[in-house]
Amino acid sequence: MLCLSSLFVSGCSLFYSSREEKYDDRLVVVGFSQVGSESDWRLANTASMVGALREENGYRLLFDNAKQKQENQYLAIRNFIQQDVDYIVLAPISETGWESVLREAKTAGIPVIVVDRQVSVEDESLYQSWVGSDFYQEGRMAVSWMEETFPENTKTLRILHLQGTEGATAQIMRSRALEEAVSRHENWSIEASLKGEFTEAKGYEVVRDFLKSSTGFDVLYSENDNMTFGAMRALEEAGISFGENGDVKIISFDAVKKALELCLEGKINLCVECNPLHGPRVDRLIKAYEAGDSPQKFSYVEEICFTCDTITQDMVDSREY
Ligand code: AHR
Repeated sequence: MLCLSSLFVSGCSLFYSSREEKYDDRLVVVGFSQVGSESDWRLANTASMVGALREENGYRLLFDNAKQKQENQYLAIRNFIQQDVDYIVLAPISETGWESVLREAKTAGIPVIVVDRQVSVEDESLYQSWVGSDFYQEGRMAVSWMEETFPENTKTLRILHLQGTEGATAQIMRSRALEEAVSRHENWSIEASLKGEFTEAKGYEVVRDFLKSSTGFDVLYSENDNMTFGAMRALEEAGISFGENGDVKIISFDAVKKALELCLEGKINLCVECNPLHGPRVDRLIKAYEAGDSPQKFSYVEEICFTCDTITQDMVDSREY
């Protein structure tokens, strides 16, 4: 736990200067390049990875927090290659731009496991496998809820779209599901698509600025919980009511514990789950490779959603993150 919190606080990288220092031959050495610490989801994801890839479970973990910069991820991966790790685990900030560095890992004979968001590369042999969420399906669940809640005879449905980091699979797919739905429904419109970078601070800032000239909207479609928390603060400051009995209905992605609490209070209408607990999944993949098995290339995690009229205290209490 001491080690975990120091990683969070400093965002430090752990590198070893030589093979001798690195090796206790019984341990599998894994270099993990994490996106950053932009959200509660991300912190839960880091904790899950660090928890699963711990020494008592047979690992030596080299962790790097890229602080939301792809260049830092390139640096980390190149360092992992130099350290001659056994596996590289990559949580990519965005889908594109990975060819060169992944080819370097392949040339060095180091298998790469991609987690959470996907990478878009022509040659899929550049990585071994991927595990994460079906972000498009998450968006489809949100759209289905909107279709049920606002039937076809609803006069107009004005949507404020709060987008995550541009080019991240979570952004691309959740946005795609919404945009496709808007093109199917003549009475639906996107009032604005604001870039909130998956952070609470940016979510607050862009919604606050938008509200200065807004003529109103009916739904906030927010691509993660932390942006939602920021947006709720901006709405409160502007005197706009939201949630179950409010003027604006709120859809939020991730379903972290704090969001579920707000859903139970009736402040968030729909929480779409995005499961961050990938540590044990990556552990299983590595153990399978070590045993000489060939697990499937893509593994999607099953997810559900919660609405303010059906969520229970038990659901909130049993939330791990
Ligand atoms: O890629 C998963 C997304 O990234 C989560 O929705 C978000 O909270 C995180 O930062």
